[in-house]
Parts: sequence; structure tokens; C-alpha cells
Amino acid sequence: MLPRCAISVCHVFVLVLCLSSAEDFDWTKNDHGSFYYGTFPAGFSWGAGSSAYQTEGAWDKDGKGLSIWDVFSHKKGKIQQNDTGDSSCEGYHKIKDDVGLMKELKLNHYRFSISWPRLIPTGIKSDHINEKGIQYYNELIDHLLENKITPIVTLYHWDLPQFLQERYGGWQNISMVNHFNEFANLCFERFGNRIKYWMTFNNPWSVAVEGYETGEHAPGLRLRGTGAYKAAHHIIKAHAKVWHTYDTQWRAKQKGLVGISLSGDWGEPVDITNQKDIEAAERYVQFYLGWFATPIFHGDYPQVMKDFIGRKSVQQGLGTSRLPSFSPQEKSYIKGTCDFLGVGHFTTRYITQKNHPSARSSSSYFTDRDLAELVDPRWPDPGSEWLYSVPWGFRRLLNFVKSQYGNPMIYVTENGVSEKMLCTELCDDWRIQYFKDYTNEMLKAIKDGVNVKGYTAWSLLDKFEWDEGYSERFGLYYVDFRNKNKPRYPKASVQFYKRIISSNGFPNQREVENWRRKAVETCSTSNQLLAAARRTSKEHAELPKTL
Ligand code: NOJ
Repeated sequence: MLPRCAISVCHVFVLVLCLSSAEDFDWTKNDHGSFYYGTFPAGFSWGAGSSAYQTEGAWDKDGKGLSIWDVFSHKKGKIQQNDTGDSSCEGYHKIKDDVGLMKELKLNHYRFSISWPRLIPTGIKSDHINEKGIQYYNELIDHLLENKITPIVTLYHWDLPQFLQERYGGWQNISMVNHFNEFANLCFERFGNRIKYWMTFNNPWSVAVEGYETGEHAPGLRLRGTGAYKAAHHIIKAHAKVWHTYDTQWRAKQKGLVGISLSGDWGEPVDITNQKDIEAAERYVQFYLGWFATPIFHGDYPQVMKDFIGRKSVQQGLGTSRLPSFSPQEKSYIKGTCDFLGVGHFTTRYITQKNHPSARSSSSYFTDRDLAELVDPRWPDPGSEWLYSVPWGFRRLLNFVKSQYGNPMIYVTENGVSEKMLCTELCDDWRIQYFKDYTNEMLKAIKDGVNVKGYTAWSLLDKFEWDEGYSERFGLYYVDFRNKNKPRYPKASVQFYKRIISSNGFPNQREVENWRRKAVETCSTSNQLLAAARRTSKEHAELPKTL
């Protein structure tokens, strides 16, 4: 396997080749303005996030059942270096330590997810409820509240009980709607007296496309052209059902809110004077965030998805569209099932129109969109191959949400940047730059009138990064995965983010520059600590066993 840095060099080369074929494009047309000094509205909530499978570890402890990620990661060749989330950050055993880190940052909220098989091992509530799992989340929630940190809870961050996958085919099967609703109902019953912000799903786009279309994620199915649409259809119905359950059974008593966390890259037309590119860019965003947001806010799929997938299905000789449809009753049941919208956002693409042949054999979510994605090779990409830092795209996406869905209340549920495996530097200047510029674009969006109430830096800790294993680190805190105690070390970005939080924004240039300078100065001490700990653990490892 090629080292990650080499893959990245090839990647840029291919993209530059792609770009040279987009003749009309003038990069200089995109001047995105200067930095805005100012503060966020009073009461703006600052947080950091995590998810169960990515951080908890304890995969088989205290009666937890298997999830599709436990099984998938144990199959050879699915995950970089065959890593698994078996122990990950050992978050299951480190509630106090991690809440301590959050206090250090002065977070207002912490976003985490509940592992369905930790509470209900088979996924079917009538089979068995694991009280030890309930106890763990009780402790976490209580400890957060004692420290004045608001918990924001995701019910499904990808770890479906394996039993439901094996018995029913997971999200390909409509029966998931009821099972998920039972699980959610249990969470409302046991935790709802203390949780006021619920999110049904995290990034269902990824569940559908990577889980059931490309197979890069668990459960690893490659049902091209149909699998993602079907999974998404059931997920949207499950979301709506859970929202109604809360609305009718719990809201009056518990007074919380139920939303969903959707991810979306921004798509910018390559040539902003070319109508075809403008439409292609709009399609890109509609097939991404709009796929889920439009039914939830307006009752049905985006018209452009219905048109494109419908037309291609006819050309492929199919009697009905590969995109399932909602009945009139379902539309009105689904419409309006969102008290707030969670937005996860990391990056942007330039988009140009590109026709893909409609052959049945090549049908897929990707070819249905009739577009090509490009990047500017000058965009910084310090970590994940797909993650280019393009802060202005964030403001555009937030404004898109405002105009398309009636200016809903938004919580940014994920935003952050990774670093490559070999760059285990705690002085993460590039992450400081990313957070500074992205949160500044969010501030501009708020000035534009977008109703953003909170921001969640992704992520609190380095953790298991799905098919990339531990090779990509998103954390504010570095985790030494080679040490079985999984110690955490602050990166420079901790110091910088802390300043943004305590000032609730950016006071003036001199001060913000000072924050940055100080952050980078202090991180060298943490670097030395980490290096010393490494040396010690290496020396121990090298001692002969007989000593
Ligand atoms: C979105 C996913 O929800 C999250 O789990 C993941 O860590 C980030 N993308 C970064 O890839």
C-alpha cells in the first residue's frame, strides 16, 4: 500500500490534470473578502464533539452487543492498517478525564452519541435492555451537567446493531423504522429528563452512500444505483417517526428539541457565468444536504433528484424510478419534523456539468448527478485526502440553508480538520488557521441573518476515523494510541479555541495574533512531554523480559 503522503501527491496531480481541461475557469473570480472582527450573539454555544464507536472503545464490555462497525473493522482489508475501534480512546473508562478536558476548554456543550447495541444488544428492545450501558450514559450525562456542560446527543452515529443487519439487511429494510423508534423512545424515557437537544441521525448521507452504495463503510454493501436511495428513504421515515414520538409523548414534559445532523460540502460553479455549471453546482448540494433536508422541511425529495434519477431510470428501461417516492400521507407526516438543524461541514468543491451515460450497468448515485468535482490545487489540504480548507464555502452553505428551508435554527454539529499520520506535531498551526477562518465565515453568516445558535469543533479527541483507522487525526487533543492508557495531550489549537470561546469571537487583529503566537509557544512544552513519554515507553518495551 502507498504511504498516505504519496497518495496525496498523486491525487493533486490528477486534479491538476482535471483542472486543465476546464478551460474557461478563472480562479481570480473568487475573491472572498477579508477577516471580520466582531463577537457572536450573547448565549452562543461553543462545543466539541465525538461519537460512540469512534471514541468509547470497550467494544465487548459490560454486556454490549456487536455493532456493524465492530464486525466490519474486524474483517481484514477494510480499514487502514486493519485498525479497529476495540479500545480506541478508552472513553468508556475516562468520563472524568474527558470532562476535565472540556472544562479546560470552557465548553458550553459536548456532543456525543449513544451506542444502540450498548443499550440494546440485539437492537430489538423486547429482547433485552443492558442496564450497564444505561449506567454509563447516566454517569456521562450527570458529570457533564455537574460541570455545566450541556449534552447534545446523537441517537445514531452509524453503529447499527449487527443482529439487525444480519436478520433484516439493516437500513435496506423498513422494519428498522420501528426498531429505531423503540431505541429512541428508551433514550427519551431514561435520559430525557436531562437531555434537551436530541439528534436522530448523524450524517445519513454517509450511512446511505458509503454503507450501501460504495461499501467503504459498514456494512460494506455495494448496491449501486439503488442501495443508497433505499437506505436514505428508510432513514428519513425513521427520523420522522422518532420526532413524532417525542412530540406526542415527551415534549410537554421534557421540553427538549429534536433535530437531525446533516452533512454537506458546498458546491461552487466552476464558471459562474455558465448556466450549466450553476445548475450542476446546485444539483451537487441538492443531492447532498438537500436529499435529506428537503423532505424534512418541505415534505418531498428535491425536484432535481426526482427529475434526474427518474429520467435515467426510464432510459435504463426500468418501470419505476430508482429513487423511491413518498405517499401524500407520508409527505405530510415527514414535513416539519425538525426543531433545529444540525449542520456538519468540512470542505468545498468546484462543480462543472458533465453528462454520464445512463447505462444500467453503470448506474450509481454519483453518475445520476451528471457533474464533475474539481478542486483548486492552491487550497490547503493538511490531512484527509478529501478535506481542502475553503472557509468561504461555509458561509455560502449556511446562507443556502437559510434561504432554502425558511431560516431554521442551526447548530453546527461538526467542523474541523485532520492531519496526516506522520505529522504528529502538537503545534497544529494549520488547524488554528482552519478554525479561525471557518468560525469567522460563520460569524459573517450570522451577520447575513443565518440563525446559527452554536458551533461544535470536530473533534475533542483524536479517534478512530472509520475506514481511515487512526491514520487521520481530527482532535483538539492528541491521543497516544500506542500507549495502552491512551493519554491525551493538548494541541496548540486547544489554546486558540479556548480564546475564541472566552471572547465569544474575535476582538481585534492584535489580540487574535497574540492568541496564535502564545498557542504555538505553549505547545512546544506539550511536544516535549509527549516525546519524553514516547522515549520512556519505548525503553520499557525494549527491556529484556527477564529483568
Ligand atoms: C463526518 C462523520 O460524522 C464523523 O464521524 C467523521 O469523523 C468526520 N466526518 C470526519 O471524517
